[in-house]
Amino acid sequence: MHPLLNTAIKAARRAGSIIQRYANQLERLTVESKGRNDFVTEVDRTAEQEIIAIIRSTYPDHAILAEESGEAGVSDYQWIIDPLDGTTNFLHGYPQYSVSIGIKRKDKLDQAVVFDPVRNELFTASRGNGAHLNDRRIRVSKVSKFDMALIGTGFPFKSHENLEIWIKSFREIIIRSSGVRRAGSAALDLAHVACGRLDGFWEIGLNPWDMAAGCLLIEEAGGLVSEMSGDINFLETGNVLAGNPKVHEIMLSLIKPQLPTDWENRK
Ligand code: IPD
Ligand code: CA
Ligand code: CA
Repeated sequence: MHPLLNTAIKAARRAGSIIQRYANQLERLTVESKGRNDFVTEVDRTAEQEIIAIIRSTYPDHAILAEESGEAGVSDYQWIIDPLDGTTNFLHGYPQYSVSIGIKRKDKLDQAVVFDPVRNELFTASRGNGAHLNDRRIRVSKVSKFDMALIGTGFPFKSHENLEIWIKSFREIIIRSSGVRRAGSAALDLAHVACGRLDGFWEIGLNPWDMAAGCLLIEEAGGLVSEMSGDINFLETGNVLAGNPKVHEIMLSLIKPQLPTDWENRK
């Protein structure tokens, strides 16, 4: 196993055990608001600090981009960390959340870990080496008929700026697919595309830490990831469209026409 991945797994499992320890004492947590519908607790912060401490003990010179503490360092290697993806679910005891750690090398996604501490499912990928779920090789689904496809999404609940565009795209997808799910952890949704539980996924306005790891998982599992316009700059824009190759193609043909003409200039 790649040494970077080894460290990422150790850090994700450590964060997962911290999260699960707090899961039994939710009523004792102090919840702070970072913005509209955007919450943070000591769980997010403690998990993130532990992840960073583990990374720093092995790779003190690497750069970090972490949701709660921001950006630090300059290096060819950047660790992109969401210590708890799905905080709202976690706070309600709704068992769908994850730890997400992606590593970029020279601006390219290189290693990925998404850990689901509820199901004890560890999703990993190394560039060029495929994607795995608990050491078993995973691939995206083979579903090619859109009326058989199960699609994941995320609602633009923090900012309503793009709500109308999302509603238009939702209309196209819901009337043609087999169903749409909104589970509440983008990192886990992407991991579920990688292992074929979902056939496609789209969301507007994600942050790099929500999707860096999940996107590499999908690519290494044989799927496609793009901007909603079809461009490759999804990590910069935060607007993501992913799926098995056929479902990705169909979703792009349904969603792209819903985008405003100035979409490219909105970043
Ligand atoms: C959120 C989750 C959610 C997605 C939001 C994210 P957080 O992350 O991934 O599914 O719809 O856009 O911000 O805030 O729970 O880490
Ligand atoms: Ca997140
Ligand atoms: Ca988070």
